[in-house]
Amino acid sequence: MTTTAAGAQARPILLADYTPPPFLVDQVALDFDFQRDYVLVSATLALRRNPQAAADAPLVLDGEDLETLSVAVDGVELAAAQYTLTATTLTLAADAAVGETCTLRTQVRIRPDENTRLSGLYRSADGYFTQCEAQGFRRISWFPDRPDVMARFTVTLHAERERLPVLLANGNPVGSGEEAPVTPGGRARHWARWEDPFPKPCYLFAIVAAKLDVLRDEFTTGSGRRVQLAIYVEPGKLDQCGHAMAALKQAMRWDEQRFGLECDLDHYMIVAVGDFNMGAMENKGLNIFNTKYVLARPDLATDHDYEGIDRVVAHEYFHNWTGNRVTCRDWFQLSLKEGLTVFRDQEFGADVHQRSVARIREVRTLRAAQFPEDAGPMRHPVRPSAYVEINNFYTATVYEKGAEVVRMIHTLLGEDAFRAGMDLYFARHDGQAVTCEDFVSAMADASNVDLAQFMRWHERAGTPRLVARGQHDPATQRYTLTLTQLPPAPVAGAKADEDAVTPLHIPVTLGLLGADGADLPLRLVGEDAGAAAPTTRTLSLTAPTQEFIFENIGATPAPSLLRNFSAPVRLDLPASDDELALRMAHDSDAFNRWEAGQQLASRLILGAAARLAATPDNADTSAIAREAVAKDWPASFAAAAARILDAVIDGRSADPAFAAEALALPSEATLAEEMAVVDPDALFAARMDLRRFLGTQLSERLHTLYASLAPTGAYQPTSADAGRRALRHLCLDLIAAADPAAGCALAARQFAAADNMSDQYAALVLLAHHGGAAAEQALADFHARWRHEALALDKWLLAQATSRRPDTLAVVRRLLAHDDFDLRNPNKVYALLRGFGANHVRFHAADGAGYRFMAEQTLALDAINPQVAARLARCFDRWRRFDAARQAQARAALARLAAHAGLSRDVAEIVQRALA
Ligand code: TRP
Ligand code: ZN
Repeated sequence: MTTTAAGAQARPILLADYTPPPFLVDQVALDFDFQRDYVLVSATLALRRNPQAAADAPLVLDGEDLETLSVAVDGVELAAAQYTLTATTLTLAADAAVGETCTLRTQVRIRPDENTRLSGLYRSADGYFTQCEAQGFRRISWFPDRPDVMARFTVTLHAERERLPVLLANGNPVGSGEEAPVTPGGRARHWARWEDPFPKPCYLFAIVAAKLDVLRDEFTTGSGRRVQLAIYVEPGKLDQCGHAMAALKQAMRWDEQRFGLECDLDHYMIVAVGDFNMGAMENKGLNIFNTKYVLARPDLATDHDYEGIDRVVAHEYFHNWTGNRVTCRDWFQLSLKEGLTVFRDQEFGADVHQRSVARIREVRTLRAAQFPEDAGPMRHPVRPSAYVEINNFYTATVYEKGAEVVRMIHTLLGEDAFRAGMDLYFARHDGQAVTCEDFVSAMADASNVDLAQFMRWHERAGTPRLVARGQHDPATQRYTLTLTQLPPAPVAGAKADEDAVTPLHIPVTLGLLGADGADLPLRLVGEDAGAAAPTTRTLSLTAPTQEFIFENIGATPAPSLLRNFSAPVRLDLPASDDELALRMAHDSDAFNRWEAGQQLASRLILGAAARLAATPDNADTSAIAREAVAKDWPASFAAAAARILDAVIDGRSADPAFAAEALALPSEATLAEEMAVVDPDALFAARMDLRRFLGTQLSERLHTLYASLAPTGAYQPTSADAGRRALRHLCLDLIAAADPAAGCALAARQFAAADNMSDQYAALVLLAHHGGAAAEQALADFHARWRHEALALDKWLLAQATSRRPDTLAVVRRLLAHDDFDLRNPNKVYALLRGFGANHVRFHAADGAGYRFMAEQTLALDAINPQVAARLARCFDRWRRFDAARQAQARAALARLAAHAGLSRDVAEIVQRALA
């Protein structure tokens, strides 16, 4: 490990070092006394030596930023010599009377008003909230802060009644009442007590003490138990909770129907808070949510926001079984709960919305975020084997690739056996803290499918490559498909993964298309000729190379591989433009129809970008450069796109959402992964020019659709309506790409006429890209209208930060000083700063200004909130993929970060890995 100022003390935690906890906690009683400037926390722990651990291990508790007031064992206060305090541990001396069991009472003072990290107990506008995953509980009280210690919690809260009228904790309310003021004539106080009947790890602990409004409802489970539902929000926002409540009930029903899982709670509460590091948190019975994933009203939330709410509400609810009833043994197993729960929320989305479009969007995210991560300095297996700061491992790999790993098991086993595996998993492990092996074993045992080799997916970093070659033999009427798996491409600066040569178990779902585009029956040599041959099947590739021979194939077919994206790999399959066009038009697998179009588009953009990069001075997208690119766009691509639009125009396809996905080009982040040396200017110019080409060629159709897809009634966030809007916005985008004046005029009209945020925001983004008076006007109007709505202001910031205009960095700098920006609020940071970091062509500006800016902001934020600062620092992940001049700029910015004394462990880990 390199020794920089901050990195010197950052020792990695290793999976191999796991040992069971020396002490278990059966019961814990917590008492929170909210005073004006601080909170007193008393914790009474019923401790017991773990028979599974060394009998003489000392009792060590975790803590952080705690002011310890007293420590007592079995009712007797300890003398100072009987325990040792460090900044992060409380260790009881051997003579502190800790026997087989004991009762430990600690009293601490904490200062939530000063807690800007938003981990532990902290203040937000309407009161106090907690975030304990992964290691925030130690910032509240001394405790063995690890997920394999599961305790029964009782919580009592005391606070001023006026200021903090709502007092919540996990579980069931068991008492409440008035309390005398602290000082005579002082403010009236009250108390409330909650008891959680389920043992849980402390990362699932939560309390809220705040002034909030509540929307109540009720849900009756399949077996007839009644669950009280409540959503708590900032006063005055009850009109924005209806959608989240409906989503919650829909998710509860779905989990009963699809997985036979009923809610085990009497009370299920969701609390929305404006200051929150991530999306939401699945605390037992008391979820705490970023307002972004609760609040929605047609004029304030986009279709994308509505869908996000559906998914996140479902995700946190599904955690109640996958995460809470069965939890993780240690944080290396994070994907056990996150990968599985993402898979479940994806399936929920697919079942209640549109399955094929949902899958396309999942793969888009995977390729834009996870593939780059897996090829960069932060690459790690779905189950990492080492970390410095666990908060840095809530990643696309753990979540999204983790979900792909679960999905592959589902593909290999089929729905029924997968369900049997889930049932067995819960039968075996309910109430336990387990590992990824335990999950895979349950799946294997319930299905009799051997998953031993499959388990390697959890341990292997990087995106594997799948090479496919087909050979048709007219004489035997056979088609031989040779599949070869190759380890992930080597990463610049990293040593080769020694283990990566052992083969993975890769499910390859495929079909073969005849010349007319129809599926051929798939019969492998040696299979029973009598049985009906399927047209889609899943092959198991388990060796480095395998041949699959299909019979009765009359002519060379077009292979359609990885249908539904059956494995998270990079596919190397040569295909002519004509073959891709055939599959784009006819593949019976919707995902692969989309995929063929994406491949065709990538090929065109990358080819043009390479030609542009080779021409001197491509820094501006000058007319000459454009001409050179434009000459090469093939009419056949526009024709294929035209066919997709025609199918919507003449009503043959009732699926505008699919059309919108099919015509949206791959993102720059995704395309950049395919370039030997990334030239962001050439990539940007080429991609823009292909859009201009489509806009020109399809102009008439685009205008027709833009008009015919106009809203006909009141806004509804249904997937059908959202699909129409998505296609309409795409049409507008292409119109503007070809004819900015016409496009901006339409956008300005759409902006003014919109009765919903989807239409309004799409127009705003488009105008912000083009700039000029219309953009200024729209931004000013938008701000004036929504200046009291925090989530709308995030959109206002994001639209400006992601603008492709050359002066965007200057605009972002100005916005930093705006009253509506606040470095302490993660949503604002994500909108303005990470939004800019995702602005490929502007963040990676040749002069390095984007890099210097991001380093400077990361440092400023690190002093406030290291978790979020570390997420910002991830903007540098791909720096080695650019040209030498940009690399030098990025390295200098990273080196400045690394040299900073007092850098957090969070940011230090990201920076050191980037520089290693
Ligand atoms: N477990 C949460 C989820 O995926 C996310 C989460 C992890 C989180 N760590 C966090 C949320 C820190 C807020 C802050 O649902
Ligand atoms: Zn989760």
